[in-house]
Amino acid sequence: MPLTTTSHRILFENASDMRAVADGQVALMVTSPPYPMIEMWDTLFETQNAKIGTHLKQAHGFKAFEAMHALLDPVWREVHRVLAPGGIACINIGDATRTLDGSFTLYPNKVRILQKLIALGFNPLPQIIWRKQTNAPNKFMGSGMMPPGAYVTLEHEHILIVRKGALRTFPSAEAKANRRESAYFWEERNQWFSDVWLDLKGTRQNLAAKGLRQRSAAFPFELAYRLINMFSVKGDTVLDPFCGLGTTLAAAAASGRSSIGFELTHDFEATIKAQFDDITRWANRIITRRIDAHLEFIAQRLAQNKPVKNTNRPYGFPVITRQEAELFISPVAAAEAETDDTVRVQYACPPEQPAFADHFEHPADGPPKVNKPQGRPRKTPAQSRQMQLHFDN
Ligand SMILES: C[S@@+](CC[C@H](N)C(=O)[O-])C[C@H]1O[C@@H](n2cnc3c(N)ncnc32)[C@H](O)[C@@H]1O
Repeated sequence: MPLTTTSHRILFENASDMRAVADGQVALMVTSPPYPMIEMWDTLFETQNAKIGTHLKQAHGFKAFEAMHALLDPVWREVHRVLAPGGIACINIGDATRTLDGSFTLYPNKVRILQKLIALGFNPLPQIIWRKQTNAPNKFMGSGMMPPGAYVTLEHEHILIVRKGALRTFPSAEAKANRRESAYFWEERNQWFSDVWLDLKGTRQNLAAKGLRQRSAAFPFELAYRLINMFSVKGDTVLDPFCGLGTTLAAAAASGRSSIGFELTHDFEATIKAQFDDITRWANRIITRRIDAHLEFIAQRLAQNKPVKNTNRPYGFPVITRQEAELFISPVAAAEAETDDTVRVQYACPPEQPAFADHFEHPADGPPKVNKPQGRPRKTPAQSRQMQLHFDN
C-alpha cells in the first residue's frame, strides 16, 4: 500500500511527561534540547528549579550543570518508553564554555547526555560531528597569542545517535516493500552517512524569519530531514520532545512520516502551524531538488563512462544499486487541520508511467544514455520540471 496520509500533532506540554504518547508508538526521535550552561537557556531552567539561579550566582558551575541536566533526564526516560524496539534517537547537542567567578570551564553536555542514555539502556551508535564554521574575528577565546591561556574554539556540535535494543526488522511483505520505497540515493548515502557534516545549509526561507530561528535556536531543516530519511521509513512516527519552531515536524511531513512535537512555550505556536499552510509548494520543491541532484549526478557519471547498472521503476531513471530500484519520494498533495493540535497531510501515489523513462535509453548491450531533446540542448536537471507537473496534478 503506497503512503497516503500522515498526521502531525503539537502538544504544548512539558515533555518530561508524555502520557499522550503510547509505549512503543515512536520509531524515531530527532531533537535538540535547551543546552545546559548556555546563557540563553538559564531563565528556562531557573523557572523549573530556582536552585539553579543560586548555584550560578555562587559560581558553583557543575552544581548548576547537574541541576539543569536533572530537568532533561526525565525526558530521555520518556523517550526510551515511547520508542519501539529498534527505534532510534538522534540528539543534536553542543558543549558549553562559561566563565564563572573568573574561572573558564567546558561543560560537556554531550558526555552527560550520552551517559544518561546508556544508563537508560540505549545502545550508542556512531555519531555525527556537525561542523558549524564561524568567521567571526572574535571567535578565539582567552589570551590571544600568549600561551597557555588561549582556548580552542568550539565550532562543532554533536548529533548523538542511540538505539533502543537490537536492529529493527521488517517481517511482512508489505513492510519490506515500504522499506524499499523509503530508500535514499546511493550518492546521498555517501554524503549523509559521513561522520562529519560540513555542508549543512538550506534552511527554508519561508519557514521563519532568520531572527526568529536564531532566538529559538532552531536547527537547519536539512539536519532533521536527513536524519528522518536515514533512520525511519515512510508512515513511521517521529517525535521531537523539544520542538521549538517545529523544524522536525516539517521535515517529517516532507518525508512522508507522521510526527508528534512537545513544546513548553506557546511563543512559536503560530509559526509552527503556519508552516503547514503552504507545505505542498515547499515540500515538493525539496523533492524536486533531490531529483534534480540525482539527475545531475547520473548525467555526470554517464559522461565519465562510469557504470550505472540499475533502473528505478517509479521514475524510470538510472540508479547505482538495486536497493534504489523502488525508491519513491512521495509528493505532498494537500494538508488540512484535522483538530486544533493536529494537521493531516496527503500524498500523491507513484505515477503509473515512469516520469523520466523517455529521457533515458537503456541499450541491451551497454550503459544507459541520456536522451537529449532535439534542437535546443537542455541540462538534464530541467527534466525534473516534468516531475513538478506531476506533483501539481
Ligand atoms: C533548542 S530549542 C529546539 C529548537 C528546534 N529544534 C527547532 O528547530 O526549532 C529547545 C526548545 O525546547 C523547549 N523546551 C525546553 N524544555 C522543555 C520541556 N521540558 N518540554 C517541552 N519543551 C521544552 C524550549 O522552549 C525550546 O523551544
